[in-house]
Amino acid sequence: MTANSNASAGILSVLHETRLFSPPPEFSATAHIKSLDHYRELYRQSVESPEKFWGRQAEAELVWSKRWDEVLQWEEPFARWFVGGQLNVSVNCLDRHLGTPAANRAALIWEGEPASDDKPGEERTLTYQQLHHEVCRFANVLKRNGLKAGDRVIIYLPMVPEAAIAMLACTRIGAIHSVVFGGFSAQSVADRIHDSTAKMVLTADGGFRRGAVVALKRNVDDALKLTDSHGNLLAQTVEKVIVLRRAALEALPMEPGRDVWWHEELSKVDAHCPAEPMDSEAPLFILYTSGSTGKPKGIFHTTGGYLLGAKLTSRYVFDLRDTDVYWCTADVGWVTGHTYVVYGPLANGATSFMYEGAPNHPEPDRFWRIVEKYGITILYTAPTAIRAFMKWGEAWPRKHDLSSLRLLGTVGEPINPEAWMWYHKIIGGARCPIVDTWWQTETGTIMITPLPGATPTKPGSATLPFFGVVPEVVDDQCQPVPRNTGGKLVIRKPWPSMLRGLWGDPRRYEQVYWSDVRGSYFTGDGCRQDEDGYFWIVGRIDDVLNVAGHRIGTAEVESALVSYPSVAEAAVVGRPDEMKGQALVAFVTLKTGVRPSPDLRQQLRDHVAKEIGAIAKPDDIRFAEALPKTRSGKIMRRLLKQVAAGTEIKGDTTTLEDLNVLARLTASSDE
Ligand code: WT7
Repeated sequence: MTANSNASAGILSVLHETRLFSPPPEFSATAHIKSLDHYRELYRQSVESPEKFWGRQAEAELVWSKRWDEVLQWEEPFARWFVGGQLNVSVNCLDRHLGTPAANRAALIWEGEPASDDKPGEERTLTYQQLHHEVCRFANVLKRNGLKAGDRVIIYLPMVPEAAIAMLACTRIGAIHSVVFGGFSAQSVADRIHDSTAKMVLTADGGFRRGAVVALKRNVDDALKLTDSHGNLLAQTVEKVIVLRRAALEALPMEPGRDVWWHEELSKVDAHCPAEPMDSEAPLFILYTSGSTGKPKGIFHTTGGYLLGAKLTSRYVFDLRDTDVYWCTADVGWVTGHTYVVYGPLANGATSFMYEGAPNHPEPDRFWRIVEKYGITILYTAPTAIRAFMKWGEAWPRKHDLSSLRLLGTVGEPINPEAWMWYHKIIGGARCPIVDTWWQTETGTIMITPLPGATPTKPGSATLPFFGVVPEVVDDQCQPVPRNTGGKLVIRKPWPSMLRGLWGDPRRYEQVYWSDVRGSYFTGDGCRQDEDGYFWIVGRIDDVLNVAGHRIGTAEVESALVSYPSVAEAAVVGRPDEMKGQALVAFVTLKTGVRPSPDLRQQLRDHVAKEIGAIAKPDDIRFAEALPKTRSGKIMRRLLKQVAAGTEIKGDTTTLEDLNVLARLTASSDE
């Protein structure tokens, strides 16, 4: 059982964890923030005079080409930070380190997926000097191919250094990137191109995943052919596709005039590329994430506030220093990859390690081999990965020397105390603090987290807010609830790295985040604060599931299912799952005359993978004659969740239109 036993309206927190782990004194002695008192003093300043605090930080931490006039303009729900200021992200991540001792330090160390243990993966190291050179060259390629400041560009690449190079090159010329995770389907790529009206796509012939090749370019070709219901091309704004040769796929079709090879374009440019000074509020990137309605939300972040948040959280939460080899295992397709593989570490002049492959290919000790080989000092990964390591057994990490590690982190979902303890003992040798970091695509940077030299930790709690963050737990009437009572997690004050909106849809932004609890940002998460003020996140309370650390909107999967011709109706709910946190269970009714079959079940799973991507494939599809509905026709998800979990049906069923439906559903689950 995980701790997040799926929250719903009357949020109940089941977890009573009393263990307390103080920061090891030898860790605190050299940490950036050495004590809880020091943290509390800085926190007090940050919330009592936020503008003074953030103004000071922005001045000390970032290189500006023009100073701002005003720290914050706040017209709820629209924030503008460092108004009137100008800066460039690539300058802050690269140029500023040139001519300093960091210039020849590794910025990125990368290892590709190995074919087998005796055929090691490729290795590449890029110093700050080299990365700067590559970014300038690729920025010139982007310009040569017609990309300008403010244009949108889709990045659909595997976990290779070029993904980071591409992101930074966009920032250098002020283009807005939207990275699409390589596991997403052609349809998802097309939807994102359409919504962002992107002009260009950066992709690769293929990427490697567990020995197989993911045909990224072919998906782009398919995406560019898809049409909407009126027969219009969905992704018609794309003028250029730049293709990286990664998998050496034979006979890759290249459309003349549209498709160009990355390496050929590079040979046509030099490495001189002045950085574009960008407005502090200029959009930096768009990332699509699931919401409770069918259509993914294009969350966008801007330049100055985001970068400041990324830099500060990276430094303080990971206690980053020059000697660290820091590894965040997230893919650049997620916000964690943006903030904590690329922008945060590089803004600090740190060394960020990137790995292309999966944790269990060719063998389940892949990560521990890497830790030993590169002397990784900080490891930041997801609870779902930790649970997988636990399942594969401690013999795998035990085979390797993990003594270089000094700090561990987790993100993505609540971590169950068993997994926390295992991570602490088996990976951290009972010596490394663990930072359980709560945040979201929307928040841009870490919001609730221990500071490793300062905050005593409790397994399963993200502990206390970062500087400037004012979280609160409230009830349905927006009133703060007493300690140890569950409620909705809201953020009371604007923070520099907050989302600035949903791309092209300011009304939906207001409605989704700012209408639930007046005057506050609503996170969608359930939470409890304990007697020490520690925050315990319980999980999502909207119709969004957290499957292996990824947000998946049930409505999105439902609309993919009903787009299949033989499906009449579909309802998707979560079922607690030991490995993934939650698993997706779909209840499907079929059109008259269509008979359920194992084949159809497989076709439906494939269909969802095609529409959204493999991460959204239902784990279980149950065919039903009818779905339980209220008299007014609303599907009673509460009951479906209980059926899916195989638990006894509890609670009120008097509003159910037809009681027999439920009986048949529970019976059919035994087949
Ligand atoms: C949702 C955000 C932010 C990077 C990865 C996910 C859940 C995230 C934690 C944590 C408990 C967590 C929340 C949040 N979540 N971190 N440490 N403890 N829950 O980004 O896809 O935007 O998802 O992930 O439910 O709202 P995301």
